[in-house]
Amino acid sequence: MAAPALRVLISQEQIQARVREMGAEIDRDYPNGNLHLICILKGACFFLADLARALRREVRVDFMGISSYGKGKTTSGEVKVTRDLDISVEGADLLIVEDIVDSGVTLNYLMHVLEQRKPRSIRIAALLDKPERRQRPVEVAYVGFRIPDEFVVGYGLDYAERYRNLPDVCVLEEGGTPA
Ligand code: IMP
Ligand code: MG
Repeated sequence: MAAPALRVLISQEQIQARVREMGAEIDRDYPNGNLHLICILKGACFFLADLARALRREVRVDFMGISSYGKGKTTSGEVKVTRDLDISVEGADLLIVEDIVDSGVTLNYLMHVLEQRKPRSIRIAALLDKPERRQRPVEVAYVGFRIPDEFVVGYGLDYAERYRNLPDVCVLEEGGTPA
């Protein structure tokens, strides 16, 4: 069994500094209104916890589970809601909080689902963006870091449910994963 090879790509200090900046930007952009942070489980929960605390304005927090039918490193293209919101979003400003935008399949689907529910507005905040991998158009209003096409773990991101609790975002090197 090969030892997993992890290389720090974005340190916890860089993440914390950037999340504070994003919080300030979101505070400026939403001076009033009823703002709901919609955390996409499970990967975005660490980002949500930090981003919510970087905001000075009042927010509501809700969770949504999405499965894209894949256990490996790529999406299967089929998306399903596995856990729905508790709070009605009608008339609210929605900020979808996501860990990473990769093919765009998940968020493209989710935008359509949420648009049906008559919110006032919908925007996306993603900690990471891999623009090279995009297959479906997705407009991301707040991006923490644009990263190259490498598979990353940590700060909520997993590989087969492992590594979510690493404090840094790390590249999982090819061949570094036990079979
Ligand atoms: P998309 O639908 O292809 O944009 O993928 C979205 C989901 O795939 C993300 O919410 C992650 O859960 C997962 N994902 C994509 N890239 C990575 C990665 O580099 N590391 C861990 N998970 C990833
Ligand atoms: Mg995810």
